[in-house]
Amino acid sequence: MAPSHKTILIGISGGIAAYKVAELVSRLKKKGYQVEVIMTESARQLVAPLTFSTLSGRPVRTEMFHEIVTEHVEVEHISMADRADLMVIVPATANIIGKAANGIADDLLSTVIMAASCPVMYFPAMNTRMWEHPVLQENITKLRSLGYEVIDPDSGFLACGTSGKGRLGSIDSIEAKILETLEKQDRQTLAGKTVLVSAGPTREPVDPVRYLTNRSSGKMGYAIAAAASKRGAEVVLVSGPVSLSVPTGVKRISVETALEMQAAMAEQMDQADIVIMAAAVADYRVAKPATEKIKKDDEEMSLNLVKNPDILSALGARKGQRIVVGFAAETNDLKANALSKLKKKNLNMIVANDVTQAGAGFDVDTNIAVIYRDNGSSREIPLTSKEALAEIILDEIECNDKEDER
Ligand code: C5P
Repeated sequence: MAPSHKTILIGISGGIAAYKVAELVSRLKKKGYQVEVIMTESARQLVAPLTFSTLSGRPVRTEMFHEIVTEHVEVEHISMADRADLMVIVPATANIIGKAANGIADDLLSTVIMAASCPVMYFPAMNTRMWEHPVLQENITKLRSLGYEVIDPDSGFLACGTSGKGRLGSIDSIEAKILETLEKQDRQTLAGKTVLVSAGPTREPVDPVRYLTNRSSGKMGYAIAAAASKRGAEVVLVSGPVSLSVPTGVKRISVETALEMQAAMAEQMDQADIVIMAAAVADYRVAKPATEKIKKDDEEMSLNLVKNPDILSALGARKGQRIVVGFAAETNDLKANALSKLKKKNLNMIVANDVTQAGAGFDVDTNIAVIYRDNGSSREIPLTSKEALAEIILDEIECNDKEDER
């Protein structure tokens, strides 16, 4: 997409480094981007808004409520958030970080952050003691776990007369980070490829009204499907029962049982270049589900279970030139178990998570993972959103693909 079609929303909070942002706005504008600026009330005390409105060619916004005189009445904080392809908070004070991490939306900037669906990057700048404060660090960890990008400040001379960590990074480095993120949004690196993804739990019937299932929400698989589609792939998503909507551009095939999932995956495998098995398949099913509702006449009852097929092993066994990726949810011996599954199921990559850790695994929005590849390499991913992990998994797959071509 041409820069002129991209809008960068710069949020300036009240740190003394606010004056440096004038140079950033000027550079981004010269590159052809649409730049809009929101200043907090304190930022306005430090630098005149006129500086930024002149450089960006747009009025600078501060007020949550101002008299609407046009005939097109719009809810400004929502429309600003909708227009943005990227939001950059620079400098990000301890205050705006604290508000964003805790859902406080008491002025225009904090409200637009909450309303934004585009990526949001924070460039903190503050006194070293504030930077090192455990509350600030906790807030940053929380923002990162929610998928926001927070870039550590530099070390150096600070406006308060001391020296240490907390100095705003150079405008060169901030500009480079912004451009890198915007370029990533446009990359169609999976164009021409078909990606087959499985997601969600399976449901194994006990009788006409009951079933066995697990806690999988499907969020990880859906995030992968959405990310692959954005990178230009044809995406087929074989999904167990979940309450998520189909990501844009993705073809969903809905299944219930492991046997139905196996049949759908086997059928779709031929067209696929990349197969990612993120579903939590039930290992066992009821041997003979009752045709009528089971009555509670007896004090005890037992179910006779039989093993379900390992779908991924079968796909791995006939993978040919495809890249096949599995998941391993473990409660112990993460590395040993993951590596053994990588080998046994003939995978190119396995994404292992220790589901005993808070923030990892089923039914949460975040994950903590280690990606093991068949070339022996591994990559540890600290607590992050499932959307961000999906991007990392696709980066690793693309990396694997390139190595294979060499
Ligand atoms: O062996 P384990 O169940 O831990 O392996 C997990 C991986 O295998 C996941 O990618 C999961 O989707 C897949 N799997 C499967 N069929 C099963 C069980 C798991 O494809 N019956």
